[in-house]
Amino acid sequence: MRDSTIASLSARRVWDSRGCPTVEVEVRTAGGAIGRAIAPAGASRGSREALDLRDGGSKLGGKDVKGAIAAVNDKIAPVLFGRDVCDQAGADAAMIALDGTPFKSALGGNAIVATSLAILHAAAAAKETALWQHIASSYGRTPTIPLPEIQIFGGGAHAGRRVDVQDFMIMVPGASSLDEVFEITAEVYAAAGKIMAQKGKSVGVADEGGWWPMFDSNEEALSTLVDAIELAGETPGDRVVISLDIAASEFGSAGKYRLALEDRELDSDQMIALLGGWLDNYPIVSIEDPLAEGDTEGMRAFTEAYGDRVQIIGDDYLVTNAAFLKEAAQIGACNAVLIKVNQAGTVTESVDTFKAAETAGYHCVVSARSGETEDTSISHLATGLGAGQLKVGSFTRSERMAKWNECLRIQDNAPSCVFVAGQPLVKTWWGKKGN
Ligand code: PGA
Ligand code: ZN
Repeated sequence: MRDSTIASLSARRVWDSRGCPTVEVEVRTAGGAIGRAIAPAGASRGSREALDLRDGGSKLGGKDVKGAIAAVNDKIAPVLFGRDVCDQAGADAAMIALDGTPFKSALGGNAIVATSLAILHAAAAAKETALWQHIASSYGRTPTIPLPEIQIFGGGAHAGRRVDVQDFMIMVPGASSLDEVFEITAEVYAAAGKIMAQKGKSVGVADEGGWWPMFDSNEEALSTLVDAIELAGETPGDRVVISLDIAASEFGSAGKYRLALEDRELDSDQMIALLGGWLDNYPIVSIEDPLAEGDTEGMRAFTEAYGDRVQIIGDDYLVTNAAFLKEAAQIGACNAVLIKVNQAGTVTESVDTFKAAETAGYHCVVSARSGETEDTSISHLATGLGAGQLKVGSFTRSERMAKWNECLRIQDNAPSCVFVAGQPLVKTWWGKKGN
């Protein structure tokens, strides 16, 4: 164990996968341990998540982060100097107190999350252990290799709103290993590209690396995904299943859902009926933000109708907030939560939400943002917590592949870590089909 007292902590400006500035924080301990992390950035953000501090003005689209960097260097560093990096909760609490606002808008969610994650890395380095191992031992967890959710077609805010639905993904809960998941995913991704090219609809990729959604309806994306799974030699609903992120807050509010692509408006009940039809006709096992973040009654009704056969994830709806999750559990809204560290703002708050989810019997999916970097902290977080599932976008582009490849490295270094084959998810679909 190296001396884990914080000796220096500073931020620099780096750049994310959309070419936007973001915050990297580097922490050094007296014993020479180094921890480094970069803040990601969302595009379809929940209204109640931690707010990034951006400079505004005309330069760099108002997205520069000089204020957030100054917050780390001038305000956070003096408060954390001399603390022990192994006291994650203490460091996070000190930043929350220093910020003093409900959405971390004073110091910036970007400044705080990069610092919080850098401290986590520094503690692992001081203990001379892998990050996933540090997380597992700190929070008393049994680590597991997570089941990936991988995007094949992008959409919504990540694809110029070409289609309304944001993520058309696959999961391979029938695979026997992570290597097999990636092999099958690579085949499905390539098959989807082949189909788009044959139709003359291959025009590039969306923000998270999925194929650009040149479709005439939202459902055409679903049927094309089924075709791609078949072209890859798989039986849809067998080893390979579908997962959707509707991201309904992006096109719905006050109980009205405007499907721009199809030029129609649905109320909450009609939206539930539309999605229910998709669940009946396609091998979908997981659906995220099916209704808008403010449509609590819709979310409850959807969960009542379909919660016994599909995973229903709250992202914008729950924003990695333990209190919101407990409220949702009380009324029976959703049965799973997305864990995005930068929605909460700190590692400690994210783990609190994870634990609240487990207590409530909710599944957990650790997730990246649409604006990402080479930072692989979440691969370790998903493994170390034994969260079970990981969502980082598609199967191209290095900000995505860095995280998938890190899972492979962790697996090689952790032979005792089992791969979560996702049996509860498989059962929901197989059970319905009478298998
Ligand atoms: P975001 O969306 O990172 O653009 O906010 C990702 C998601 O909705 O899961
Ligand atoms: Zn989402």
